[in-house]
Amino acid sequence: MRARYSGTQIFLHWLSALLVICTLLLPYSQDLIADVLGSAGGVFTLHKSLGLTILLLTLLRLVIRARLGEPLLLETSARWKRHASKTTHAALYLLLLLMPLSGLLFGKRPVELFWLLSVGPLPLSDEARAIARQFHLTAKYLLFALILGHAAMALWHHYLLRDGVLSAMLPRRD
Ligand code: HEM
Ligand code: HEM
Repeated sequence: MRARYSGTQIFLHWLSALLVICTLLLPYSQDLIADVLGSAGGVFTLHKSLGLTILLLTLLRLVIRARLGEPLLLETSARWKRHASKTTHAALYLLLLLMPLSGLLFGKRPVELFWLLSVGPLPLSDEARAIARQFHLTAKYLLFALILGHAAMALWHHYLLRDGVLSAMLPRRD
């Protein structure tokens, strides 16, 4: 059983983390971006484009994970801790799929993917769009909380427990 994530998994984890943080923050930065660029017009085009990129990266990560299995990192920890870690990772993956999908579902206008390609809108009823929008706007709180808890646990392992959990998700130093 492996004791680390593969180089590709590590690259995709940190790239996704960066994109997720940008995607989450963009809707709240419209005023700042408008001040700097003179217009905040493209903020949601970028939000949607990054969101759909995250969806593709997450599908790729899940395929790689299914092929490689997960590294054995918490084998000496209590069962509930292993369970909590697995549940958090599963919930993060689920939200990384459902946030972009719900965003795609509720839009009434086509998404201009990186200003290059038009996607959608999907033919849905107004009720279905309203449910998807409600999900998008509510599940963001769960995503905020999970990311904070997840990062805090990684730092706890690294600085207090001093085990190899964070190192398993960092590039090799040798
Ligand atoms: C991982 C991917 C995504 C995350 C984490 C995310 C997160 C968010 C957040 C935090 C907001 C601000 C909500 C608020 O006003 O408080 C938002 C709004 C919005 N998102 Fe996303 N989003 C993602 C993907 C997408 C995608 C792929 C689309 C469309 C294709 C999309 C369309 C929108 C729209 C249109 C709004 C404005 C909603 C409104 O105020 O009516 N999002 N999203
Ligand atoms: C937007 C932010 C983030 C998201 C969405 C995210 C998501 C994930 C997911 C889904 C996994 C499971 C990987 C797998 O088993 O295939 C994971 C693992 C991991 N993440 Fe993150 N992550 C984020 C930020 C961070 C940060 C900021 C840190 C460090 C401070 C971190 C440290 C780790 C570590 C150490 C693992 C491996 C844990 C283990 O296998 O027990 N992540 N992350």
